[in-house]
Formats: sequence, structure tokens, C-alpha cells
Amino acid sequence: MKVLLKWLGIILAGVIVLLLIFAGYVYFKSASMLSKTYTHIQGKNIYVPNDSATVARGEHLVHCIAGCAGCHNPDLGGYSQDMMPFMMFNTSNITFGKGGLPADYTIEDLDLIVRHAVKRDKTGVFIMPSYHYNRMADKDVAAIYAYLKTATKVDKESPALELGPIGRMVLSQGGLIALPEVTDHSYKPPLEVAPSATPQYGKYLAEVACIGCHGPKYSGGPLFQGDPSWPPASNLSTTLKKYTQESFQAFLLTGIRPDGTIVDTVAMPIRDLKHADSLEVSALWQYLSALPREETGKATWLKEAGIEE
Ligand code: HEC
Ligand code: HEC
Repeated sequence: MKVLLKWLGIILAGVIVLLLIFAGYVYFKSASMLSKTYTHIQGKNIYVPNDSATVARGEHLVHCIAGCAGCHNPDLGGYSQDMMPFMMFNTSNITFGKGGLPADYTIEDLDLIVRHAVKRDKTGVFIMPSYHYNRMADKDVAAIYAYLKTATKVDKESPALELGPIGRMVLSQGGLIALPEVTDHSYKPPLEVAPSATPQYGKYLAEVACIGCHGPKYSGGPLFQGDPSWPPASNLSTTLKKYTQESFQAFLLTGIRPDGTIVDTVAMPIRDLKHADSLEVSALWQYLSALPREETGKATWLKEAGIEE
């Protein structure tokens, strides 16, 4: 009996030592991944007009098409959700109030985060979908900057996003990824895309508004770096064949599908997208309803970036 207890003790001690080694490995590997900097990537110095049409365009992008307010809170003062031990999900206060963007935050800084996923301190951002915002036209990035400059200031500290032990383990095993790694930094975005009720403009809008969640080929599947409790995104290349332009428009306003069922209107951001105007709905419909059919979940952002086979 004594001998057996002794051996059990040795095995238990061995298991504890192995667990400590693994915890140490996870801690140091994740710490080095979190502090990685991207100093070679630069934002672009774009001319920023400040006329009212530009500011209105920026406001519409932030609160509707690009979905910034969906993460940064409708007042843009930042949003926090305690998801520990996974993470403290914190998004920045993106107004120029106290605790928000500093007065000397430039258009280059904004371009760097929006189209390259790199923060002003040169570390990579997590969760924010810059891997598809990189398609945004120069003029639209400038419009967002012009709007943020004039938006109502919110005085609120915004703590940084923080990974807990589970988040760090997921990160060290490749389940979370700093988004500069997935973003095509050599993509040449257009200087300007003028709004028109055409499939070309629909493609542009969909690349800014929909592909982050519905996937690079609109084939849906689990959300990339999304909240794991959310449902997978629908395969737009097949489901939209059951819609008409009218039912598509009604869906964007309400989240109700043509068969009368309702989608999860948080995961599918109806709160923002219901503000799309009729020209935008028409352009999106023309482009999305004609997509070639793709197998559900086949195209993913990790495959697109060459990180997964
Ligand atoms: C899915 C969520 C999400 C969306 C959508 C999103 N962001 Fe962010 N954003 C974040 C997170 C997370 C951070 C970083 C928080 C941190 O690391 O502390 C961030 C950081 C920022 C910062 C601060 C960067 C810095 O230099 O420190 C700015 C500015 C910003 N976002 C602007 C935008 C704009 C503009 C849009 C829309 C075009 C947008 N965000 C859309 C999640 C999001
Ligand atoms: C933040 C992620 C996100 C964004 C951005 C997003 N979607 Fe979705 N969408 C979803 C998810 C998740 C579902 C599935 C929800 C469910 O099953 O309850 C969905 C469902 C849908 C459906 C329902 C299809 C069906 O009948 O099953 C349509 C249509 C749709 N989205 C269109 C769009 C369009 C168009 C855009 C861009 C203008 C867009 N979505 C942007 C996440 C998103």
C-alpha cells in the first residue's frame, strides 16, 4: 500500500511539473506574439476634405456600411465585455474625447489601423476586421477620419483588449491570430468609388460590409475570429437565390427571411445595416444575387491568406 501511494505521489508530482512547463510555454509564447510589432507597415497620408458631404459619408460608413459602431459602441466611446477566462473584450474609444484618440492622431494612424490592422503603437490588432477593410477606397478612409474629427466627444477611458489564460492558450495554438498576419498589405485599394446602382458598386459595398463575416467568396461558415456563441454565417451564394430584391430589402430592415424565420440580429448586424439606402440595397442585390454558387464554408480567410491549406 505504502509503495503504491509513493508511486502515485511521484506520478502526480510529474503531472504537475508538466502542467507548469506547459503553462510557462503558453505564457511566454503568447507574450511574444502579443508584443510583436509591425514597424515596416505604414499608413497612407490621404487628403482629408472637411465639407459636409464628406462628413456625412463618413458617418454613414461608421454607423452602417463598415459597422465600426457595432464594435466601438453607437456613441463610439468604446465597448467592454468580460469574457474571462477567455478575454476582456475591449474596443477603443474612437472619439477625440478624454480617454479616446489623442489630438495628434493622424490620417496615417487611422489608415494604418483600418486598412493594415496595425495600431498606433505598432502592435497588431485582434478581432477588428481590417483583413477586408483593406479594400476600402482612399476617399472613404478620409471620410471616416473627417467624421471622427467632428463626432461628439465621449470622455471615457478605454482599457486595452486583454487575453486571459484560455485566450492565451488559444493564441499560442493558432486559434486566434494578430490580424496584420491575415491582411494583404500589398492590396491596391481604389482612390474613389462613386455610388451608383450597379453591380460594380454592389461588389465594393459587399467587400466593405459583408465579406468579413460571410467569407471571401460569400460561402459562409463559422465566423472568422468571431464570438464562438454566434451562429455560422449563411452561404449568400446559395441562400440569396431564394430572395427577391423586395424580400432582400425587407430582410436588411428586419432580419426576417422570406420564409418568415428571423436571424440572430446581433450576429447579423441588422442594427447597422437597416440604415442602408435604396441605392445601396439595389447595388448589393444586383451583385450578390448573381454570385456563382459555392460550397458552404469552403473559402476561409486563413486559406485566402495562405495560412491554411
Ligand atoms: C469586430 C470589432 C471591430 C470592428 C467592426 C471595428 N473595430 Fe476598431 N477596434 C477593435 C478592437 C478590438 C480594437 C483594439 C482594442 C485594443 O487592442 O485594445 C480596435 C481599435 C481601433 C482603433 C484604435 C487603434 C489604435 O491606433 O490604437 C481605431 C481608431 C479603430 N479601431 C477604428 C475603427 C473603425 C474606423 C472601424 C470601422 C471602419 C472599426 N474600428 C471597426 C474592434 C473593432
Ligand atoms: C458581423 C457579421 C456579419 C456581417 C458584417 C454581415 N452578416 Fe449577414 N449574417 C451573419 C450571420 C452570423 C448570419 C446567420 C444568422 C443566423 O443564422 O441566425 C447572417 C445571415 C445573413 C442572411 C440570411 C440568409 C438566410 O436566408 O439564411 C443574409 C441575406 C445576410 N446575412 C446578408 C448580409 C449582407 C448583404 C451583408 C453586408 C451588407 C451582411 N450579411 C453582413 C453575419 C454577418
